[in-house]
Amino acid sequence: MTGVVDEGPVLVEVSCKPSDVELVSLALLENGAGAVEVLDSVPPRLRAGFPSRAGAELALRGTDLADRAIIVTGHPGEGERWRERWAGAEVGRHLDVRPPWSNRARSPGRTVIEIDPGRDVFGSGTHVSTTMALEELEVCVGEGDVAVDVGTGTGILAIAAVQLGAERAFALDIDAVAVHAARRNARRNGVGPRVNVARGGPECVRIRPDGIMCNLLLGDQLGVARALVDMGARWAVLTGILEYQTADVVTAWAPYEVRTARCRGGWSSLVFVRP
Ligand SMILES: C[S@@+](CC[C@H](N)C(=O)[O-])C[C@H]1O[C@@H](n2cnc3c(N)ncnc32)[C@H](O)[C@@H]1O
Repeated sequence: MTGVVDEGPVLVEVSCKPSDVELVSLALLENGAGAVEVLDSVPPRLRAGFPSRAGAELALRGTDLADRAIIVTGHPGEGERWRERWAGAEVGRHLDVRPPWSNRARSPGRTVIEIDPGRDVFGSGTHVSTTMALEELEVCVGEGDVAVDVGTGTGILAIAAVQLGAERAFALDIDAVAVHAARRNARRNGVGPRVNVARGGPECVRIRPDGIMCNLLLGDQLGVARALVDMGARWAVLTGILEYQTADVVTAWAPYEVRTARCRGGWSSLVFVRP
């Protein structure tokens, strides 16, 4: 690993084959990364935040990632400064996802979703699995719908569903930090009363929703698939799945039919409709 020697938070970048993105992401997380982002590049590059250079080196030592990893920033507080440089982006045809500190110009007619990802909560809107889900929600959400978001992270999809016309969204996450972030973000966007955030998974849902959104990696997707199918929603937007894993998810969602299947940067999005 090459880089500078200062202590403090560091970002580590690792390039890999498209088919290895999930494995390398998991390896980074299992070896102590606080969060992993897949950069939109060819070949794919993964950027992971570690609390310190020493921590990153210790975590990666002995793994086959060490030789491929490059520390891109190493100054104390650099992780925070990188976060602050993120200005958000326009997504799909109607949305503009931005952090509270962004002063990027606003385009007229776009609905702003302000998301503070905190330190480690997934769902800033930079990951392609999130942006693909948002794009599909623009098409799926109907006026007055009730939507369920399983694995809400920052709450971004649940908040978007309400901003796009849903009457209410149930936002679920097993992680207490995510639950806190999602509540805060819902309030920040003025939709707190319409986004019910709870800690847990599909077992928390006692109603029949109109729609479901779920951005989880394959193992978790398959773990919740039966419970989500049994909810009987009209539509479902699923992301977090790698391109080559799509068939497994389609099988798990029988008898739902695929309305749309898209791929970007090795990731896929699936929109299911009830037959
Ligand atoms: C990839 S993030 C998605 C965040 C956000 N929905 C987005 O699209 O950017 C997945 C989230 O799901 C949560 N999670 C994982 N397994 C879960 C499960 N079985 N039930 C509920 N949440 C789960 C994780 O804690 C994490 O916050």
